[in-house]
Amino acid sequence: MKYKQEDNQFNRYCVTTALPYANGPVHIGHLAGVYVPADVYVRYLRANDEDIVFIGGSDEHGVPITIKARKEGVTPQQIVDRYHNVIKKSFEDLGISFDIYSRTSSKIHHQTASEFFSKLYNSGKFIEQVSQQYYDEEAKAFLADRYITGTCPHCGNEKAYGDQCEACGSSLSPTELINPKSALSGNEPVLKETKHWYLPLNDYEDFMKQWILEGHKEWKTNVYGQCKSWIEQGLQPRAVTRDLDWGVKVPLPNAEGKVLYVWFDAPIGYISNTKELYPDDWQKWWKERDTKLVHFIGKDNIVFHCIIFPAMLQAEGSYILPESVPANEFLNLEGDKISTSRNWAVWLHEYLEDFKDKQDVLRYVLCANAPETKDNDFTWKDFQTRNNSELVAILGNFVNRTLVLTHKFFEGKVPQVPANTITPLEQEVTAEIAKFPQRIGLAIENYKFREALSEMMNLARIGNKYLTECEPWKMIKTDVERTAAVLNISLQICANLAILSEPFLPFTANKLTKMLNLPPLHWSDAGKTDIIKPNSPIEKPELLFEIIDDQAIEAQIAKLEATKQSNQLENASVEPQKPNISFEDFSKMDIRTATIIAAEKVAKTKKLLKLTVNTGIDTRTIVSGIAEYFEPEQIIGKQVSVLVNLEAKELKGITSQGMILMAENADGSLHFVSPCSQLINGAEIR
Ligand code: MF3
Ligand code: ZN
Repeated sequence: MKYKQEDNQFNRYCVTTALPYANGPVHIGHLAGVYVPADVYVRYLRANDEDIVFIGGSDEHGVPITIKARKEGVTPQQIVDRYHNVIKKSFEDLGISFDIYSRTSSKIHHQTASEFFSKLYNSGKFIEQVSQQYYDEEAKAFLADRYITGTCPHCGNEKAYGDQCEACGSSLSPTELINPKSALSGNEPVLKETKHWYLPLNDYEDFMKQWILEGHKEWKTNVYGQCKSWIEQGLQPRAVTRDLDWGVKVPLPNAEGKVLYVWFDAPIGYISNTKELYPDDWQKWWKERDTKLVHFIGKDNIVFHCIIFPAMLQAEGSYILPESVPANEFLNLEGDKISTSRNWAVWLHEYLEDFKDKQDVLRYVLCANAPETKDNDFTWKDFQTRNNSELVAILGNFVNRTLVLTHKFFEGKVPQVPANTITPLEQEVTAEIAKFPQRIGLAIENYKFREALSEMMNLARIGNKYLTECEPWKMIKTDVERTAAVLNISLQICANLAILSEPFLPFTANKLTKMLNLPPLHWSDAGKTDIIKPNSPIEKPELLFEIIDDQAIEAQIAKLEATKQSNQLENASVEPQKPNISFEDFSKMDIRTATIIAAEKVAKTKKLLKLTVNTGIDTRTIVSGIAEYFEPEQIIGKQVSVLVNLEAKELKGITSQGMILMAENADGSLHFVSPCSQLINGAEIR
C-alpha cells in the first residue's frame, strides 16, 4: 500500500546509503544523518511488500586513508580491512538491514568502475587537460593537496594544508601556500606537468536546470537550495583522475600512477554492490524506469549525489537518475561539532558494548533527534530522558499494563468482546487507531521520520489514556464483560504497535510480536481492531525497556570530559623560548628544596596565600599567588622548590622572602615543581 500518489508509477525501490570512509568507526552523527532514517524507510517498504534492495558498503579509497596508513606504518589495505569489519559488524548489531554491505576495494568494484570510466572515455565524454602540480622529486610522486603543508597566506598558520587552512578555515589551492613542504620527504616540492581527465559539468548545466530546478521542486529545501546555488554559480569541468597509488587504476595506456578520483569511483560502488548481490538481474535496479532510486546521505555529500554522480550516469546513458536525495544536516554532540580526529563522538561499537540490548533506545533517540531540517544536538541527558519518560513511561508502560491485566483477569488469553459492551469511547478509539497506518506511512514516504516516530508514540499515548479512563483494574469488580472489551481493544493497540513500531524499533517489535504470539504481519494489517483473535494465548510479559540510571549517563559524560581535557592538552600552544642567557646568569639563582609547614589565606585577597617554609637554611615567609588552586590545609607538608635569593618584597603588608616555583598547565591551572622523591630541605637545584 502506498499513500503518496506520485509513487504509483514505481514498481521497485533501490535505496542506497552513503558509503562511509573505512578510516574510522561509525558514530552517532552518521547514524542520525543517514543510516537510521534509511533503515526506517526500507523496513517500512518491506512491510508494504515492496520490491526493494538496500545497498551499503565501505568507501575504501581516497587520500585520508593513505595518510592514516603512512602514519601507522601499515598499508592502506590493512587500514580499510580493519575498519570495514568494525563498521559492518556494528551496523548489523544495530539492526541496519542492508541487503548487502560490501566494499570498494573488491575486485568486482574495480572492474565495474573501470568499465564505467572506459565507456565514458570511449564515447568522448571527457576532456583531457595538462596542468602543473606539485611533485616530490625524492619520493618520485605527485602530491595530493593534503600531502602539502605550508604557511597560510591569509592567517600565517605554518601548518596549513594544500586544500585548507584549519586555523582560519579558508580553502586553499596548494600553489597559494608560502614555503610549501612535501609530507612525504619534507622537501620543497616542484611544479611538474601532469595529464588528467575531466568531466565537463558545464555541458550538463541546462540538463541540471531542467531536471532539478524545474523537475524536482519537491526535494527537501536544504537539498534543493544547495543544488540551486551550485547550478547558478555555473558548473566547471571536474577532474575525475588523480596521481596516487591507491584506488582504481585509470584503464588507459600511459596512465601509470594514476587512479580514478575517489568521488568518481565511490558512488559507482552502489552499482558494484548491487551487481555482487544480484549478478544476474542487477540491471533492473539501475536501468528500469519504474525503479525508484533514493540516496540517503549527509549534507556534505549533496553536490556529489545531486549533480556529479547524476552527470556521470547521464553521460553513460543507460542508467536511471535518483528520484530523491533526502540529505540530512549534521548532528552535534553536547553542543560541539562531532569530529573523528578530535575523538569527539559517540562511537557505535562502543555504545553497543556499554548499552547491551539497547539498540532500539539509540535508534529511537537518533530518529527523534534526526537533523532533518537543521543541525541538531545529541546530549546524554536527553538520551536518558527520552528513554525514561518516553520509551519506558509511554510505550513500555502501556504494553506492560495491558499484558499484566490480561494475565491477571483473563488467564493470559485474549478476551472475547461480549455483545453490547462497545460504548462511544470504544468507537472513538477504534476510529483513531484506523488513522495511524496512513499517518505514519505518509510521513515516512515524505522522509519526515521524526514526525512518523512521534505519531507512532501517539498511538501508545492513546492506549495509556484509554486504560487510565476505563480503569479496568477497578471495572473488573463491577463489570467483567466490559473489562473484557477494554482489554481486547488494548491488546489490539499492542498488536498495532508491533506492526507500526517495527521500522523504528525492530528489536522491540520483535519481542512484542512474540509476546502476543502474532504471525508475520504487514503494514496493511495495521489500523484494525481484530488483528489478534479472541482466546489466543499471550505470553508472560517481559519489560520492553528499562530505566537508565544517572550513573550510566554520568559515566558517558565523564568519558567525553576526559576526551575534552586530553584534546586541550594536545592543542595547547607552548610559549616560545626566551633569549639565551649565560651559565653565569643561571648560576646566580639559588634554588632549593623546601617544605611548606604552615599556610593561610591573606585577608581581603582572592589569590594570595601566606606560606611558612622550611628551606633547610631557615624558616621564612613567602607570599604566593596560588590561593585559587589550593586550600591551605591541602599543601601543608608538601616539599617544593624555592628560589631563595630573590630580593624580598612587601605584599599586602607581609614581607615575602623568595618564590615557590610553579608550572602552569594549558588550562591555566598551577602545579608545584617538586622533587620526585623526598629530599632533605635545602638541597640545591642546579
Ligand atoms: N565516503 C563519503 C563520505 O563519508 C561518502 C561516499 S558516498 C558515495 O563522505 F556515493 F560516494 F559512495
Ligand atoms: Zn589560515
